[in-house]
Formats: sequence, C-alpha cells, structure tokens
Amino acid sequence: MAATASTTPHSLLLQKSPQNHAFLKLKPNSTTLPLTPAAAKRFSISCSATLPTQDRPSLQTQSQDRVFNFAAGPATLPENVLLKAQSDLYIWRDSGMSVMEMSHRGKHFRSIIEKAEADLRALLNVPEDYAVLFLQGGATTQFAAIPLNLCQPDDTVDYLVTGSWGDKAFKEAQKYCKPKVIWSGKSENYIRVPSFDGVEQSPNAKYLHICANETIYGVEFKDYPVPSNPNGVLVADMSSNFCSKPVDVTKFGLIYAGAQKNVGPSGVCIVIVRKDLIGNAQPITPVMLDYKIHADNNSLYNTPPAFGIYMCGLVFDDLLKQGGLHEVEKKNIKKASLLYNAIDESKGFYRCPVEKSVRSLMNVPFTLEKSELEADFLKEAAKEKLLELKGHRSVGGMRASIYNAMPLAGIEKLVAFMKDFQSRHA
Ligand SMILES: Cc1ncc(COP(=O)(O)O)c(C=O)c1O
Repeated sequence: MAATASTTPHSLLLQKSPQNHAFLKLKPNSTTLPLTPAAAKRFSISCSATLPTQDRPSLQTQSQDRVFNFAAGPATLPENVLLKAQSDLYIWRDSGMSVMEMSHRGKHFRSIIEKAEADLRALLNVPEDYAVLFLQGGATTQFAAIPLNLCQPDDTVDYLVTGSWGDKAFKEAQKYCKPKVIWSGKSENYIRVPSFDGVEQSPNAKYLHICANETIYGVEFKDYPVPSNPNGVLVADMSSNFCSKPVDVTKFGLIYAGAQKNVGPSGVCIVIVRKDLIGNAQPITPVMLDYKIHADNNSLYNTPPAFGIYMCGLVFDDLLKQGGLHEVEKKNIKKASLLYNAIDESKGFYRCPVEKSVRSLMNVPFTLEKSELEADFLKEAAKEKLLELKGHRSVGGMRASIYNAMPLAGIEKLVAFMKDFQSRHA
C-alpha cells in the first residue's frame, strides 16, 4: 500500500496493485478505480485537501444536484437505476470488466439479456408465442421494418393517424406496400382518437397501425381498435407509453418501442412480435431489419447495443420491484391527474387542447393564454430546476413529459411553480 488518506469525504485509500499500478480504493464498498501515473501523482499530493471536482471519484450522485427533467426523450431515468449502473460501471459482478467491454456472446452478457427479456415478459405477461427482440435503429427503423416483414409490395395496410409519429410511419410504409390512412386527426391539429365504429377499415388490410401514445400531441389510446380483417393484426408504436401501464399483448400482432422514454437509453428498440408473423420478409429486406434473423439469434445476430440493453434490464427489474405495471399505472395516473387538474383549474391561464378522454398519462402539452409569457415561463421554471418544458417545435407551447421515472415530487414542484407563476402574471 503506497499511501492512505482519510481526510476526504469518501475515506479514500491510495493503493498499489501487484503490477505496481496505483489504484484508488473507496470505502465502504471497496470499489477500486485505477489511476494513471499522472493522476496518482496528482492525487497523492492533493488528497489531504479538497480534490478538484473533475478528479473527485464519486459513487454517489448528489440528488440535490439533479434537475427535474421533463424532456420527451431521451428522458429522465430512475435515480436508483442510474446509481446501480454507476456502481456496476467499472466492474460488473465477477466479470472483471464493464458491461461495455464484455463479449455479447459470453456468459455474462447472455445472463444480462436473458434476465432483461424474462423480466419484460413478466412485466407485460408476454405469451410464449411472441418473440421479444432487442434491436437498434430506434423506433423510426421499425417504420420500414414492419411493412417489410409483415407484407408484400402489393398488400394493403391501414394507418390510423393520431399524430405526427403515425404520419411518419405511414409515409415510410409507402415505399414497401400500399398503406392507406383510414383516419387522420391532422385537420384538428391532433387532439383526439376517433370512435372506432365510425372508421372504415380496408377489408384485406394485413395490419392496422396505431401510435398508442403520440408523444408530441399528448394523445393516448385508452382502448384499442380490432382489425376488421380476421387475418389482419393490430400493430402499435408504444415508444412513449411502453411499460407505463399493463397491456394485453394478445390484442396485438406487433408492439414496438424505442427505449429512451420509459425504459432505458436511446439506442435500443424493443419489438414484441407474434411468432407466426416472422419469416415472411420481402426479399429486399436488409438483414438487419429481418425479424427472423434476430429471433433465430436471440437478438445477438450482430453486436447489439449491449450497455443500453443492460440499462433496460435494470429498469425492468426496478419496475417489477415496484410491484409491476398495475402499481406503476396507479402512480402515473396520480401524477398526470395532479398536472391536468392544475391546468383545468387555472381558469384558462393554462390550457390543454387534447380531448379529456384520451389525454396522455405520459406527455402533457399545454399552452399559456398569454403566449407572450412563454419565454418567461421557461426561464423561471429553469431557475427552479424544472427543465425541458418547451413544447415540440411543430406545436409550440409547453409540454411536460412525465414518464415512469418522473417522481411525484417533480410534478408537485411543477404544479406549485405553475400556480405561483399564474398568481404573478394573471
Ligand atoms: C411515438 C414515437 N414513435 C417513434 C419515435 C422515433 O423514435 P426514434 O428516435 O427512437 O427513432 C418517437 C420519438 O420520439 C416517438 O415518440
């Protein structure tokens, strides 16, 4: 042991490894961090004083330093998950290496991806006849992969468009099959979901596509249409409400979700697809978009976004520990009600344009009656550590994205701020 320092907050020990490399040892959890010779020298001089922030090893995030991040995605992640990842970052269990460094085909990563899949299956009660795929390319790549895998170029498919993500999915499908918009809320600026009885579906549509939660407009399906073609299936983009509430997977042929809102970092896209729909990809389908290739290889055909999958696994584990998606939904309803009530009770100072019956539990858009106050609202909110409240550039106004990981305290603080702002500007 080269030196001992006990005056820093973490009770740091400077040690030497058998190879004579300096290591920084943190008590009480005994994590060791290697130091370059230069860093070791700097450390040995300065460890009895306060270290510059950038040099200070930290296994604890100061939660008071974290903001309430209302971004639509990438979005806030559960603090305990981030801290767990932080403590695992340097060495994962007994592997001697970080998750980022391990072979995706080795036993350690296999155990990570297998647990992530098993936990997701448990959370959503995914039946055995559905495959769970961890893919790349975001939800946007699925806009092409879905028609390429589920139909042939001359097949008709239906799109029910309740926002701009559904519209983008439709436009991409035009390259690979014959999609039809059977309903669009565009002329009303996407504020509702139609009554399903009043929408005529194409009799031979191979699938009916919906976006279960339109992230930008805050419109969420509370129940789901049934394809009128008995051989057709329902396909849903659940990017922004995935794992926010229980879902009956058997109602869908395919569910897909980019991870970066509710379940992990960007870079992972999860596809849950009924197994009998796999294996009929159009001949032009790139290998990376072919569900059969990924299903046959347990999502390990090529190098997967391993660290992102590991992070999703930590989130799934956390959601199970919270009691599963029924419990998660209760919390989400409580948080969303608090915010919508504050908007509705503001006597028009704030306004949410979305029809009440389909207001999203995840993304809450609202405008200020005096739109000239928007910049002040955002500036003052930021001072209170309430960040990323600006609405999407295509709609303006405000939007608070309140995914699973947004704590109730974040909503309470936002609501208190909104009331205070109103009292000063009404
Ligand atoms: C509902 C929905 N679908 C698709 C996407 C596109 O996701 P990605 O950026 O992962 O391609 C988004 C992104 O915000 C989204 O909110």
